[in-house]
Amino acid sequence: MTTSAKKILVLGATSGIAEATCRIWAAEGASLFLVARNQTKLEAVAADLKTRGAAYIDIAVADLDDTEQHPALLAHAINSLTGMDIAYLAHGILGDQTEAEREFATAEQILHTNFIAPVSMLTWLANYCVQRKAGTLAVISSVAGDRGRKSNYVYGSSKAGLSAFLGGLRNRVDREGVTVLTIKPGPTKTAMTAAMPGQSKMADVNSVAKTIAKAITAGKDTLYVPFQWQPIMFIIRNIPESIFKKLNL
Ligand SMILES: NC(=O)c1ccc[n+]([C@@H]2O[C@H](COP(=O)([O-])OP(=O)(O)OC[C@H]3O[C@@H](n4cnc5c(N)ncnc54)[C@H](OP(=O)(O)O)[C@@H]3O)[C@@H](O)[C@H]2O)c1
Repeated sequence: MTTSAKKILVLGATSGIAEATCRIWAAEGASLFLVARNQTKLEAVAADLKTRGAAYIDIAVADLDDTEQHPALLAHAINSLTGMDIAYLAHGILGDQTEAEREFATAEQILHTNFIAPVSMLTWLANYCVQRKAGTLAVISSVAGDRGRKSNYVYGSSKAGLSAFLGGLRNRVDREGVTVLTIKPGPTKTAMTAAMPGQSKMADVNSVAKTIAKAITAGKDTLYVPFQWQPIMFIIRNIPESIFKKLNL
């Protein structure tokens, strides 16, 4: 599948990774429906993508935490695009791990935004795609979901839940002609990581986006990006718990 002239729904379109991916799709002449909660940022992204060659652009401002609005929002987006080939779910929050250790409400917010909200949208979108026996659901999870670590286990568990959900969903819908791609980026230079140390070791957002766009075109199931995170996480997943619990990760 090539993405040229494809109809793509982007949820969390102002995310650094999503915006960089959309620039690739715009240059290929794709039609894009962009959803984000910040109208000013969203309009700026949409205007930029139009100049880069997108065949069609429409936008909706929405807080994706509001799951009750999802069915109407998704139906409106697909109506505007007159169909949908790819849904790209990119929104998410890192949250404050220390605060989440003290306050359940903080942990709940991270779990809601990163896990419950995507599950709500994916339930609707998967049923839409199954009915048509076509479509790709490309979803950004994280390497952080591969094993809980003391430095970010609330965020990590939200992504672990999302990755597990995507694995099961793929197992259900693959036979119906629907592709589910689980995207697991390692640390990448975006607004989300701007305050973190080790910037020089983080991946470049444009190169991450390029790899994601290629994986969607290739119909892949899972993507670690950059690729070296696959063997790194294999090792981290296999460290015995008796050792792992003593590490500062
Ligand atoms: N950067 C990394 O190192 C990294 C690594 C692994 C996985 N990821 C994942 O990659 C995805 C994209 O993140 P990014 O790195 O591109 O960070 P980013 O630039 O901070 O993007 C996150 C986006 O999510 C949006 N968002 C958060 N809550 C929302 C809500 N309730 N409704 C609508 N939009 C909401 C934010 O909107 P506002 O701008 O309005 O806040 C922002 O546009 C996320 O799922 C993240 O968890 C990132």
